[in-house]
Amino acid sequence: MSDGKNEFRVELFVKFLYPGIILKGDAYTYSGEKVWAGNTPFTEDAIKKLIERGIQKVFYTRARVVNDKGTGNPMVSEEILKKAVDISHELEQAVTSKAIIPEKGVNEIVDGFINNISTSEGTVLNLMELKEYDDYTYTHSINVCLLSILFAKKLNYNEKGLKIIGTGALLHDIGKMMISKEILNKPLGLTREEFEIMKKHPVFGYEIIRSQSNFGTLIQKVVLLHHEKHIGKGYPFGLRGEQIGEIAQIVSMADVFDAVTSERPYKPARPYWYALSQIKKDSGIAFAPRLARAFVDDMPKYLTENEIFTKGCYVLLNSGEVGEVIDYRFPQSLKPVVNIYINSKKEVVRYPIPVNLEFDDSRNIENVLEDDGIIKKLGEIKDSFAKRKEKTPYVFPDDIPKPEHEASGMSIAEAAREAAPIPEAAMDAAKKAEPDKDLFIENESDLK
Ligand SMILES: [Fe+2]
Ligand SMILES: [Fe+2]
Repeated sequence: MSDGKNEFRVELFVKFLYPGIILKGDAYTYSGEKVWAGNTPFTEDAIKKLIERGIQKVFYTRARVVNDKGTGNPMVSEEILKKAVDISHELEQAVTSKAIIPEKGVNEIVDGFINNISTSEGTVLNLMELKEYDDYTYTHSINVCLLSILFAKKLNYNEKGLKIIGTGALLHDIGKMMISKEILNKPLGLTREEFEIMKKHPVFGYEIIRSQSNFGTLIQKVVLLHHEKHIGKGYPFGLRGEQIGEIAQIVSMADVFDAVTSERPYKPARPYWYALSQIKKDSGIAFAPRLARAFVDDMPKYLTENEIFTKGCYVLLNSGEVGEVIDYRFPQSLKPVVNIYINSKKEVVRYPIPVNLEFDDSRNIENVLEDDGIIKKLGEIKDSFAKRKEKTPYVFPDDIPKPEHEASGMSIAEAAREAAPIPEAAMDAAKKAEPDKDLFIENESDLK
């Protein structure tokens, strides 16, 4: 229960618990009573008892994710981050009471971020960690704002462009404030109707900004188009490629990165390598290829000073080969040197084959192998090389875990379609509530 440096306290509303949810640490009430063991699925009965006792929140302590966020030399001051949370709170109050949104406060935060964020090397963008699930919309919006400004700086946007992108990013999910928390935080799959409501949030957001602020059309555009996808399967319009423009795509990428790497009541935080490889795979599907490439190539060194792939970790390549990360050009490289131990036919090789992924476009890391049993077997194989028993008649088992989307048997393109179908009724409703989409197309000149 300590709040030590390498531990992180996660608070969780009891109403978000569901049978089968597994927390990464023992769950406690505020009076310090242990109510459930970590890494053990919650039972319906246990949840009922907490509700009957009137307990609203539990918390658990878990280890910080190693190999991710760095610790030294943060770009953004704590003070301005705290202010940003306060402004987010004011924003929520303004939205729910239909008042004018606090533009001055929003401007101050975005300006502060623009001044703090630097693309000189050696500093790390200190993204916020979630303290309470209820605050997710705040921390998420702040993180998307930080990431979008950094990325836009890398893409050489001028001051005006940075302000538009930063403001749009901070407000991108403001429409979610119109949607009930039950739907927003629903642990398991949304029903079709609930999903249709969720998909309205860009339109709700656009409408709020249009009617409750003086922020201009380009900021409205970012909010309205942040769920459009490069291949035209996004919402609300199903715009394609260049029609979406760049500023909304920047925010869209930052959005995916933060969502994947954040812990939610229904899913663990994913490591940075996973989010970056998702963006890479979504290149040409959700994102314009040149933007996806720029994000994956340019952003990691500003996101952590730690290794993205730790030396000594075992990885599965897209070729089916399995090996160990042994070196890299720089710690945040997504293309380290891998010593191949198992070939694509799942046979142990005679000698380890070092492959520098930087010079091999055909090979990519697909997954980091974390199963204890597999790590142990690979350790044995490695030892066998060291002892020069290279003729070990060892055929590797069939159970090397694939990344999730592949385990589901879906191609990325299918997954993208699956994630964002656009039923006629939703399109009609969205069109009725919106201005002509042409207002927002090809309107991004003089921002760089
Ligand atoms: Fe969104
Ligand atoms: Fe978002």
